[in-house]
Amino acid sequence: MQYEVVLPAAGSGKRMGAGQNKLFLELLGKPILIHTLEVFEQHENCTGIWLAVKPEERAFIREMLASYGISKVKGLPDGGAERQHSVHSCMKEMEQVDIVLVHDAARPFITHAIIANLVQSAHDFGAAIAGVRAKDTMKKVRDGIIEETVDRESLWMIQTPQAFRFDLIVEAEDVAEKVGFLGTDEAMLVERLGHAVHIVESTYENVKMTTKEDLLFGEAILRRRVAETY
Ligand code: C5P
Repeated sequence: MQYEVVLPAAGSGKRMGAGQNKLFLELLGKPILIHTLEVFEQHENCTGIWLAVKPEERAFIREMLASYGISKVKGLPDGGAERQHSVHSCMKEMEQVDIVLVHDAARPFITHAIIANLVQSAHDFGAAIAGVRAKDTMKKVRDGIIEETVDRESLWMIQTPQAFRFDLIVEAEDVAEKVGFLGTDEAMLVERLGHAVHIVESTYENVKMTTKEDLLFGEAILRRRVAETY
């Protein structure tokens, strides 16, 4: 089943402390952004990629796309102050498609198998997001004191991709924009409409490259994957 993907790539990555867009940092000699783009470039069901970028980085990113042979990018609109704004600026440029995926450009280890499950689930139910079960004991804390131990069975840690029927995510974004609601993911905007969002079990490898330690973990994942292909 075909889909197009929106990749917000206009963050500053302050928590990485790299002094530049963290997506330009390399894992085994290749920028994080390219690792992520290659997942979609190589997935035959992906018919288009939309990349939200900072205006001052657009020319550099275009050069990167050309030198790594990334050909599916249909547009590179300006990102916004918040991730949600960056996603919205891509959505505004897209033509109607059946299914849209939103995926952090900083999560390079997503697999085609999980993407396929998400696309199928979004087709069947309207909205589906990737997540993993909480592994640790979870507690609610206020002012350094435990308030409550939360039942872990019902807790999931949410990732991207998040997949939606096009009309549903457009409506959810429009409503959020109208009332000035800012969510931490796209699913929240759909939940606000009262629409069910399904979960697709992902893996703990689908980490977001956020801090320096994540880079070490990321390189270990890549080394193991390279070893497995030989
Ligand atoms: O900062 P964080 O890693 O949570 O951002 C997730 C993704 O959203 C990254 O790929 C980042 O480049 C992107 N982003 C964006 N526009 C923003 C903030 C983040 O496109 N204003």
